[in-house]
Amino acid sequence: SGADSSTGAGDAPAPEDLIVGFSQVGAESGWRAANTKDIQAAFEDAGIELKFSDAQQKQENQIKAIRSYIQQGVDVIAFSPVVESGWDTVLKEAKDADIPVVLTDRSVDSADTSLYVSFLGSDFVEEGKKAGNWATEEFADADAVKIIQLEGTTGSAPAIDRAEGFADVIGSDPKFEIVASQTGDFTRSGGKQVTEALLKSNPDVDLIYAHNDDMGLGAIEAIEAAGLKPGVDIKILTIDAVKDGMQALADGKINFIVECSPLLGKQLVDIVNKVVAGEEVETRIVTEETTFTQEEAIAALPDRQY
Ligand code: AHR
Repeated sequence: SGADSSTGAGDAPAPEDLIVGFSQVGAESGWRAANTKDIQAAFEDAGIELKFSDAQQKQENQIKAIRSYIQQGVDVIAFSPVVESGWDTVLKEAKDADIPVVLTDRSVDSADTSLYVSFLGSDFVEEGKKAGNWATEEFADADAVKIIQLEGTTGSAPAIDRAEGFADVIGSDPKFEIVASQTGDFTRSGGKQVTEALLKSNPDVDLIYAHNDDMGLGAIEAIEAAGLKPGVDIKILTIDAVKDGMQALADGKINFIVECSPLLGKQLVDIVNKVVAGEEVETRIVTEETTFTQEEAIAALPDRQY
């Protein structure tokens, strides 16, 4: 409960004696760039060495990085898993080597939860529900609502959970129809390409629900290229609230954003300090987040750091 992890643990190692290995998903989005920057800055501030590797959205690269951290004998391994499944073997190797693993941002679906000490990140199902709640209110008076869903990376926790949370809410009203749903891999170019193609077969779509801002920003380009007005002819609903997304919301091109915070660095350092001091850590730490309307984006933009 807010207790300083540096107190009371006489045998806690000094920060300069620690090495943490971090395997990042990639550099697919503005969110990811902000997340990387925040984590690197937090470890730098704490005086703890952070070995960093970028997996370029490939699970095999992450497995290689984790194995290399095990071989180097780092004190703690942290990683944000690109997809949910397929981690048991490598996590077991870390456990056998007595190296604690912390999950950040995304989780794994391993049945054996003793394979990691903590999971720090957002509740993605809740984010999807918030998106669904906005759609329900926004289209309260409509008789039929055709939706294109731009999914995140196939098999990733945020893509699975944001689709599920959204469907949970809109599924109770048959007027909502997801007419097409395809992955844009959480990238701007992916969002643009998929929207371009899907608009041809679904020109009368009412809403684009994008699993992140970057894909929504790509959708804006595709809609404009088709001679339509994003935010007016076709409404856009996204998740993240990075600066570029917030600017598009302020400009009326995006209609609503559900926040997903990339600022996990300080909390990750706290967890690492506790783990190496032998203190207990919470097994699940949920990030606090809000939502933004156009007015709220205009008010928040001047102070937005990322
Ligand atoms: O895992 C978090 C998601 O990954 C963010 O919403 C998205 O922008 C990023 O690529």
